Parts: sequence; C-alpha cells; structure tokens
Amino acid sequence: MAHFDSVSLAPADPILSLTEAFKADSNPEKINLSVGVFVDDSGITPILPTVIEAERRLAANASSKSYLPITGSPLYGSLTQELCLGSDLKNSLDGQITTAQTPGGTGGLRVAADFIKKNLSTNTVWLSNPTWANHKGIFSSPGLEIKSYAYFDKASLRLDYAAFIEAIKAIPAGDVVVLHACCHNPTGADLSPAQWDEVATIATEKNWIPLLDFAYQGFGAGIDSDAHGVRAFAKTGLPLFIAQSFSKNFGLYQDRVGALHIITANADETKRVASQLKLTIRTNYSNPPAHGGGIVQTILNDQELYTRWEIEVAQMRSRIHEVRDNFVAALSSVGVSRDFSFLKEQKGMFSFTGLSQEQATALREDHSIYIVNDGRINVAGITADNLPRLAQAFKALLG
Ligand code: LMR
Repeated sequence: MAHFDSVSLAPADPILSLTEAFKADSNPEKINLSVGVFVDDSGITPILPTVIEAERRLAANASSKSYLPITGSPLYGSLTQELCLGSDLKNSLDGQITTAQTPGGTGGLRVAADFIKKNLSTNTVWLSNPTWANHKGIFSSPGLEIKSYAYFDKASLRLDYAAFIEAIKAIPAGDVVVLHACCHNPTGADLSPAQWDEVATIATEKNWIPLLDFAYQGFGAGIDSDAHGVRAFAKTGLPLFIAQSFSKNFGLYQDRVGALHIITANADETKRVASQLKLTIRTNYSNPPAHGGGIVQTILNDQELYTRWEIEVAQMRSRIHEVRDNFVAALSSVGVSRDFSFLKEQKGMFSFTGLSQEQATALREDHSIYIVNDGRINVAGITADNLPRLAQAFKALLG
C-alpha cells in the first residue's frame, strides 16, 4: 500500500504551469505572456490556411493508418533537410545526413540526448546562460553532465558577445555545445551572420560536437536568413545535430511535429549512426505520429502551398515586429522611465524584460499578467486590446 511513499512532489514546470494558472484565473482581463505560442491580434492561435488545405488533402487521400518507419517518412526527412539547409548544401551532403521525424523539437532533442549518452564518448553538454527552461532536464535525464557558457549581459539586456566568445573558446574538444539557431529562447538576443561565421570557425578549431536547436525558423528575419547559423555549421565538416520544430512556424503546437538531423563525415558513419538512432527511437516511442508530419510534408512538397506558407510565416513575423514597436511606444507613452528600446532589437517571440522574479510574481498576483519568473515575456501574446492594460501594469510596477 505504501509503494508510492517514496515519490516526492516534483516542482511545477516553470513555463507550462503558468498557462494552467492562467486558465484558472477568473479575471476577465487576464493576459498570458508565458508560453511561446503565437496569437493573432484578436488573441487567437490560428490554424494556418495552408494547414487546413493540407489536412483536407490528407483526409481525401487517406487509405491506411499503418505504422510509419522508425525514423518516419523518408520524403519528410528529405523536405525538412532542404528547409533547414537549403537545396545546394543538402545536395552537397548527400549520404551524410540521417533524419528522424520526431514528436516535436523537444522529442528530437531528447532522442539526440539519449543517442549521445549511449553512443558518444563525451558526457558533457554546454548550454547558454540563460537557456530554455527545459534544456537542462532534457539533457540531464539520460545522465549527461550540464555546463553553461556566458551569453547574455543582464545589465544591458543584450548579447554579451565578448564574454560569449571567451567562454566558448574554453570549451574542450569533443564536448556537445547546444546553440539556439535563431530567436534565442528566452532572451531574443541573436548572433549576427558574421558572428555565426566566427562561432562556426571557433567550433571547428576546437572540434566540438555542435547541436543546434532550431525551433523558430522564419520568426526572426526570414526563413533562409534564420538558417544562416545552421548552414554555417553544416559547412564546417564537424559532426552536427539539428533539432527542428514545426510547432511555431506551422502553428502545429499540439500535433508535435519536428525532426532530428545528424550530419556525419561520410556514408559509413551515417549507416552506423542511423542504425543506433533507430534503436534509440524504437525503445522510446517506437515510431513517430504521422498526422502533423503529413501536414508539413504536404505543404513543403507542393510549390503553391509552400509559397502561401512562406507568406503566412512572413505575416506572423511582421506582427511580432509590430508588437515589439507598439509595446515600446506604449511603455514610453504611459511614462515608464526605464529604457525598453532593446525590445526592438530582439528576435522572435521572446524578450527578456529584466524584471525580477518578485516583479513577475507581482504582475501575476496584482494584475493577472502571466510572464515567466525569469522575466521572459512572449511578445506575440500582446494584442491591441491588452496592450494599454499591460503598459499601465508596467508603469505601476516600475514607475
Ligand atoms: C516555450 O519556451 O514557451 C516553448 O518552447 C514551449 C515550451 O514547451 O516550453
């Protein structure tokens, strides 16, 4: 009867628990800026019209629900490689890329973590300070040791490039280094293309095993521009892990769609890596869910749908840019004295506001405004409707 006595209460998830609290809040004016989910100006997370069309085609042509292969649909693998690498680079790496269709980008990261722990000689994974709250758990769960490298200057709320370069130059050869490919989560502070090139050169000199977390392609500067870092690394000749997510850029959050790409030096390595990757997946979730991947595959494989999707992503991206400008303007028009201009330089859905945990709690308890305790906000959750109240709350908090 007492077998569960040994089970202690786990802490609530620092991001997803806030949405649970938000849902339970009876204040009709509550605002959720916690989890990274895009909403349009009417406060809705839309299903993209291309997704609706792809689902219609999938339903019309469905003939079976039999299993997918362990690493998913080969066509999906090839199309998602092309999306992140571009066709020239993808073709030049023929025979050197293994892809698994994974349940979300998180699934891809966890498969990578399990694969690294079991198959590679390193036991150390470096994460940026700060990083996405879930990274640490994903990599420490299989028993990898976590270390962190400097990235962000909390005083200026901007990338500290000099400290970052100094820190990464000290990372030993053969360690796994996780980098946010674009739209850094949680800070929104990204590397420029020239900085990416420099980091890729350092990585090559140091001989790391880089892992790029690519969850926001298209939300920063553009579908191809956001891939600059991934492509710079793919050209180095280093082994490379890329975890890709389609939650945000296809709006497929609940369908859990992603991919893990592993680039190796040659076809022989790829053959061995692919065999172990299959084993890792087979003993975890066996093979991936098909529906979300089918949607992405349908859109990427049809020129007309692909062009429409590019426009949809551009529209989401411009709304995020607009919201950043409007938020900074609203804060200044209500008389907030602190300079928030850094918000305009940040990329993607997230911004580090510089608010303390106490201030995040005060926003939640006094104003029903939900932000992550580390001060991260999802700017994509700001709408014309909630902006005035949000700005007033910041004024009340900061003066
Ligand atoms: C976030 O950081 O809010 C998103 O990546 C969603 C999540 O799973 O945490």
